[in-house]
Amino acid sequence: MFKERVYNFSAGPSMLPVPVLEKAAAEITNFNGSGMSVMEMSHRSKAYQDIFDETKALLREVLSVPESHEILFMQGGATGQFAAVAMNLMGTNGKADYAVTGNFSGLAAKEAKKYGQVHIAADTSEANHTYIPRQEELDLSPDAAYFHYCANNTIYGTEWDYTPKAPCPVVADMSSNILSKPVDIAAHGLIYAGVQKNMAPAGMAVVIIDKSLAGHELPCTPTVLSYKTMIDKDSMYNTPPTFNIYMLGLVLKWVKEMGGLAGMEALREERAGMLYDFLDNSRLFTGCAESAARSKMNVTFRTGSKELDAEFVQEAAARGFVSLAGHRIVGGMRASVYNAMPVEGVRRLVDFMGAFEAAHQN
Ligand SMILES: Cc1ncc(COP(=O)(O)O)c(C=O)c1O
Repeated sequence: MFKERVYNFSAGPSMLPVPVLEKAAAEITNFNGSGMSVMEMSHRSKAYQDIFDETKALLREVLSVPESHEILFMQGGATGQFAAVAMNLMGTNGKADYAVTGNFSGLAAKEAKKYGQVHIAADTSEANHTYIPRQEELDLSPDAAYFHYCANNTIYGTEWDYTPKAPCPVVADMSSNILSKPVDIAAHGLIYAGVQKNMAPAGMAVVIIDKSLAGHELPCTPTVLSYKTMIDKDSMYNTPPTFNIYMLGLVLKWVKEMGGLAGMEALREERAGMLYDFLDNSRLFTGCAESAARSKMNVTFRTGSKELDAEFVQEAAARGFVSLAGHRIVGGMRASVYNAMPVEGVRRLVDFMGAFEAAHQN
């Protein structure tokens, strides 16, 4: 039992900024004099439409989304987008290129195979996904409808430090690093992200799509996954995830107050820098990813002993550093340090790691 808030290193759902939670709490029973919670509002009401429009405008502003691209709020999480991307974009010639650099890009490629021909342009599984391919290592087809990559590999703790180029539209899964640094939106045909890490509570995916790509979907595409329909209906073909959109708006206001994406980038450098500096000098802990590919959102590490890893995770949790166990398919440890993780939380974790190391020196 904790009386105070813990430092929650969960990979998602994960920490939300305290001022955001407090604002939501203050408005939970009566939003802005409406006499009701946002959760209870008709999505067709003026009060809700204002929230929706404001959130969308804030996202466009914070991410510098050009007018060529539309912003959609969709359901089914990022996993729903694995299917939606293929169904909507493969239509033109039924072929797509995928870089498989971790678990989720592998799942995205597997899902896409149901709808067309998938060519694997890169596959880092032979090295246990510890690195990110360079541009010249990508085996890109001349005629793919799109090229898909996952910008940050949440489980393996690797992150692309460049935007790959392709002879076709580039599609990115940015679920675990969106809003953490400036992104060249125009260099992407489509970006999608499950919101439960850097944006809002779980239950929604944000899609940013070059409007010219919509309208070529496979006939079997469910209407709720049709980008064309969602663009035409401004994400309100059916009831949208109203509360998530409101929470995203609060998070975006917080991001702006914290200096926008430049502010978020400075913070991610500071948090990840502290952890990797410690790991590089540690005699007990080792980072899992190759230095050049290290994620600034998910820092993966291990001691080399499963028992010691388990002891570390347990002792850390007792001190209020929770959810540090690595994903079940890789083991070890993972500190997910998204936008809402205070720098102080990482400083204290590093101190604890140092103390744990000293106590286990033999
Ligand atoms: C990079 C990435 N893509 C996709 C997913 C799947 O997201 P969802 O659970 O929202 O379907 C996750 C989940 O953690 C993820 O980290």
